[in-house]
This record gives sequence, C-alpha cells and structure tokens, in this order.
Amino acid sequence: MKIAVGCDHIVTDIKDKTVKYLNGKGHDVIDCGTYDFVRTHYPIFGRKVGVMVAKGEVDIGICICGTGVGINIAAEKVKGVRCALVRDVQTAVYAKEELNANVIGVGGRVVGEGTIEYIVDAFIAAKYNPTAENQALIKKIDGLIGENDTIENDAIFDEFQKKWDEGFYND
Ligand code: RB5
Repeated sequence: MKIAVGCDHIVTDIKDKTVKYLNGKGHDVIDCGTYDFVRTHYPIFGRKVGVMVAKGEVDIGICICGTGVGINIAAEKVKGVRCALVRDVQTAVYAKEELNANVIGVGGRVVGEGTIEYIVDAFIAAKYNPTAENQALIKKIDGLIGENDTIENDAIFDEFQKKWDEGFYND
C-alpha cells in the first residue's frame, strides 16, 4: 500500500520508527516530514499528508504529533480527507470500516511506538464496509468542508513558521 506519514518535531523519532516499520512490511512510504527536532508546526505536516491523500498520490495517511489532536484537525480540513484521531485498534478499524477514513491521527506521546504499530496494521488491514446509511452519512460529512483551501496553497503557514524562528512560541 502507498502511505504518506507526517509528524511534528515532538515525535520525529516515533515517526521515523513507524516509517521503518511500514517499509519493513513492504509498504511504499512517503515521509512528508518533519525530519528533525527543530520546532515547527504540526498543521504543515498534517496538511501535507492530507493533500497527498486528497490528490490520490497515496492510499492512506498517518499523522503523528504529541497528542495527535492538532495534526488530526489540520489533516481533516483538507477537502477529501476523513481523518480519525485514534488511540486504539478498535477505533482504527471502526474508522475505516464505517466511515471510510483515509487518514489517522495518532498521539506519539500518548500512544507510543508499540501500540502505533498495532494501530497502523489494523487500519491498513481493515476494509470499508459500504452501507446505504454510512454512504449517505459520509456524503454529508464530506460536504461540510468548504472551497476555501486550495490544495496548491503551500505558503499558508509561512507566517507561523517565521514566528517560531523568531522565538515567539514555546513548547
Ligand atoms: C507540540 O507543539 C504539541 O502541541 C503537538 O505535538 C500536539 O500535541 C498538538 O496536538
């Protein structure tokens, strides 16, 4: 399977291990970054993963930040993405089977690398089970996202990145 993986600087080591794990299982992994521990913003990488999924460049996406919350929300804003914040195998399977989730957000500091492996395995193995009810629901949910974001607009977070560089934020 082709999989995009992204993270923020809080959990780069966990993302790297997840990428290695998925590569070891024979998946084609696109590492969207971040690639080191230099402060950055999780929306940049959540969005990168979301855009790859929305454009059909990968089959699914995996987003990891400290809690999973911020990066999950950012990915979810990309039109065409259904991103579920997941902390366990059961939720990951439900997200795919019932809501055809195409991205999961995971909290590296909350869940940890061992459980992430079980979660991604379960998400990859699960298949969407379409029913009239969940198809109608998904159509409504997908319709909630407006047309404001153009997925080519990569510079939208530049002002925040500049503020990190200027020492404006603290972890
Ligand atoms: C660090 O910036 C932290 O806020 C982030 O990794 C994440 O936990 C947000 O949801």
